[in-house]
Amino acid sequence: MNKNQILVPLNNNSYEVTIKQGLVNSIGEELNRIGINKDRKILIVSNQEISNLFGEKILRNLKKNNFYAEIFNIKAGESYKNLATLSDIYNAAFEIGLDRNSLIIALGGGIVGDVAGFAAATWLRGIEYIQIPTTLLSMVDSSVGGKTAVNHPKGKNLIGAFYQPKAVLIDPETLATLPSREFKAGMAEVIKYGIIKDKVLFEYLESEKNRNKILNLENESLIQIINNSIRTKAIIVSQDEKENGVRAILNYGHSFGHVIENLCGYGEYLHGEAISIGMKIAGDIATEKNLWLKEDSLRQNNLIESYGLPTQTPKIKKNEVITILMGDKKVRDGKMRFILPKEIGKVDIFNDIEESQFLKYFD
Ligand code: GLY
Repeated sequence: MNKNQILVPLNNNSYEVTIKQGLVNSIGEELNRIGINKDRKILIVSNQEISNLFGEKILRNLKKNNFYAEIFNIKAGESYKNLATLSDIYNAAFEIGLDRNSLIIALGGGIVGDVAGFAAATWLRGIEYIQIPTTLLSMVDSSVGGKTAVNHPKGKNLIGAFYQPKAVLIDPETLATLPSREFKAGMAEVIKYGIIKDKVLFEYLESEKNRNKILNLENESLIQIINNSIRTKAIIVSQDEKENGVRAILNYGHSFGHVIENLCGYGEYLHGEAISIGMKIAGDIATEKNLWLKEDSLRQNNLIESYGLPTQTPKIKKNEVITILMGDKKVRDGKMRFILPKEIGKVDIFNDIEESQFLKYFD
């Protein structure tokens, strides 16, 4: 395994994440390398925009390598991450005759990955799938770890399964076509890894020279931050695949991020923007509780802002915050479960945060 291949070690379903420049041009060769037989039908689930960019190229390459594949596009956007879209994928799977030996490839961002992964988890009681993430957020977070889901009208990701991919294939060159706002939103998850577990990554991100390289999409630095992020995720997921404990630290900044996404409407804030604000609030609570130094809190906030991400909490009413957190089952008896930083590179799970300690950040 070379240094840009990362093993996600799990009991029965370990897999490799491969990060390679230009990989999207040689998916057939990658499938050969990981031992996918030619006789397996492949359904590539994507969306129109991503298909337009990479679909034809991938199909041509698969054909050249004697694989049979078809693309099925789902509609882009959080509002389509639902049972109707899932049902459309099942219809496509039926039409092309996906059997238990077939393979699904998720080609796109987090929504495509989550829905296609859940389709794979459930079609014929589960067939193999491969993630080819094309956004920074899905590269460093959602494509790794096996969380698959669709939304229910009552809440995000309420219907889903832990179902690990057979492999994750990442080409940082696909980020060249990603809108800059989305790239920056993905940086929020990278910064998150720095705070929860990787001080070296945090310091790498702090350097102005590195920031310029990253924001200019220089491949070497992109590979480095993606690699470091996934290494941390792989360690955490392998310790707690189904989030019974330590995996929750991956949700640093997400509780209030989720509140903001929910109350301001999905789309007003991108996920990464909302969790940037969530990390700022978590940092402020930790400062008040004397868990970490004020200067670390400022370093965190400066880093977030230096990547063009927001830290200002929007106007949201206290009672609405409580309603959302109750829905998330994060509030129990007026106390909340929360991930708070203790220093840069170290967080902990706290079950005893009083409502008054976090409601003051809202109206
Ligand atoms: N995105 C958080 C997790 O995979 O657990």
